[in-house]
Amino acid sequence: MEEIRLQKYLAMCGVASRRNAEQLIQEGRVSVNGQVITQQGVKVTSKDKVKVDGKPVQVEKKKYYIMMNKPTGYICAVTDDRERPCVVDILKEDVEARIFPVGRLDYDTSGLLLLTNDGDFMQKLTHPSYEVWKTYRAVVKGVPNEKNVEEFAAGIMLEDGKTEPAVLDVVGYKGKNAIAEISIKEGRNRQVRRMMQEIGHPVLSLERISIGALELGNLKPGAWRYLKEKDFEALFRE
Ligand code: URA
Repeated sequence: MEEIRLQKYLAMCGVASRRNAEQLIQEGRVSVNGQVITQQGVKVTSKDKVKVDGKPVQVEKKKYYIMMNKPTGYICAVTDDRERPCVVDILKEDVEARIFPVGRLDYDTSGLLLLTNDGDFMQKLTHPSYEVWKTYRAVVKGVPNEKNVEEFAAGIMLEDGKTEPAVLDVVGYKGKNAIAEISIKEGRNRQVRRMMQEIGHPVLSLERISIGALELGNLKPGAWRYLKEKDFEALFRE
């Protein structure tokens, strides 16, 4: 194996995306042959002994691409310091590789979540240039009106700046409340909840139903399956 940059090597090992690997290095969590590395750009080969948080890592040859219906009450992480259940726990019995969630859904959000051990795939899907609509179905308090729909289309001012244009569509009713489908291209922290709060119709429950043309379909909460060829096409369709 030729020499490659440490962050690329960590991505190939399925430890993190390249971007997140840079952060791990910066935080002093990576060592090469027993020496902690904090500067970027160090090169390694497969002969070097690379450890993350003291644990050896190896290039994982088999790549896993998984879609899950994340249940509420799970966090999108590999471990949690508050010992809440993590989405990867659901896979542990069946998948031996170190798998990571691609992006985040909130603890109290359910729905379509991708997981992988392929750092490059992760990087592609979380990069700002991957601009696909992500659609959520929410039960929201009250019933949004036409003005709210227009506000969404123009972008909503949040404390971290105005959002890109978004789509709000009332598709049904639950008592006095509405069932809405909300589509956004960005992925800011708690974005849908904050946008709905801002227009006065806070979210009561939230589920992601599609990423690009890839739909959750009839996967039940907690169920998962491997991606098929047509799912990759759906993710990367223009
Ligand atoms: N927007 C939110 O508010 N929460 C999520 O989990 C995803 C998008």
